[in-house]
Amino acid sequence: MVKICCIGAGYVGGPTMAVIALKCPSVEVAVVDISVPRINAWNSDQLPIYEPGLDDVVKQCRGKNLFFSTDVEKHVREADIVFVSVNTPTKTRGLGAGKAADLTYWESAARMIADVSVSDKIVVEKSTVPVKTAEAIEKILTHNSKGIKFQILSNPEFLAEGTAIEDLFKPDRVLIGGRETPEGFAAVKALKDVYSQWVPEERILTTNLWSAELSKLAANAFLAQRISSVNAMSALCEATGANVSEVSYAVGKDSRIGPKFLNSSVGFGGSCFQKDRPCSFAGR
Ligand SMILES: NC(=O)c1ccc[n+]([C@@H]2O[C@H](COP(=O)([O-])OP(=O)(O)OC[C@H]3O[C@@H](n4cnc5c(N)ncnc54)[C@H](O)[C@@H]3O)[C@@H](O)[C@H]2O)c1
Repeated sequence: MVKICCIGAGYVGGPTMAVIALKCPSVEVAVVDISVPRINAWNSDQLPIYEPGLDDVVKQCRGKNLFFSTDVEKHVREADIVFVSVNTPTKTRGLGAGKAADLTYWESAARMIADVSVSDKIVVEKSTVPVKTAEAIEKILTHNSKGIKFQILSNPEFLAEGTAIEDLFKPDRVLIGGRETPEGFAAVKALKDVYSQWVPEERILTTNLWSAELSKLAANAFLAQRISSVNAMSALCEATGANVSEVSYAVGKDSRIGPKFLNSSVGFGGSCFQKDRPCSFAGR
C-alpha cells in the first residue's frame, strides 16, 4: 500500500488529501500539522475550514485511509510520498520584504524530512514557491540525508477557495514537474499514478521542475493582469459614461478572451502575495 503524508493541514493540504484518499482507496493518507487545534478540528465534526462538499468527503474516508495527526515525524518517516503544503507568506522583513515569499516553514519542513527519514522518498512541493526552490530544497535534503535518496517534484495547486472540492474532483489540469533523469521520470510516474485514478490522462501535464514551478506563478500573473485590465477599464467607464459591467460582458463574449476573471473590483490578493500592491499577483 502506497503511503502518503502531507505536511500542512491547511486550505490546500486538507481538501487535497481528503480527495486523494476518497479517489484512491488503496492509498493511505496522513495529514500532519504542528497546530494541535487545527488537527483536533480536522478530527471533529467542526472542520477547520468550510468548503462545499468537504464534510462529506472527510466523513467517507476519515479513520479508514485518511488520518489527521500531530505526530509529524512518525508519518513522514513511514511515507513513500511526502507532500509539503505549508504556508509561504509574503516576507515582512529583511531582503525582499513585502514582495518575496517567506520560505522559513518550507525549509524547516525539509530539514525535518531529512532528519527523520530512514527510507528513500518522493518529496512534493505543493506550496506556491519561487522558481528554483526545488534546487534549494534538494540541497537541504541531500546535505542532511545520511545516504537516503530523495526525488523532488513540483505539483502546484490551482484550486480556488470556495470551489476547492469541485476543482479537485475536476481539475482543469494537474501539473507535475520533475528532474529529467531516470529517477526523476520514475517519481513523476509514481505521482501521476495517484492522480490518474480519477483525472483523465490528457489533463495530467508532466514537465521539468522549473516549468512546473514557473507555470503556477505565471498563471497567477495572467489572472492578476485580467483584473488589473478590467479595473483600468472601469476608470475609463467613469470618465466616459460607459457601464463597466456591460463592457466586461461584451469583451468576455469574445471566445479568444472568455468571461472569467473579468469583474472589476477593489483589487486582488492571496495568501502568498501582498493584497494591496499594484504589482502583486492575484492567486495563492
Ligand atoms: N489557500 C489557497 O487557496 C491556495 C491555493 C493554491 C496554493 N496555495 C498555496 O499552498 C500553500 C499552503 O496554503 P494554505 O492556504 O493551505 O496555508 P494554511 O496557512 O492554511 O496552512 C498551512 C499549514 O501548515 C502548517 N505548518 C507550517 N509549518 C509546518 C511544519 N514545519 N510542520 C507541520 N505543519 C506546518 C501550519 O500550521 C498550517 O496549518 C501556500 O504556499 C499557498 O500559497 C494556497
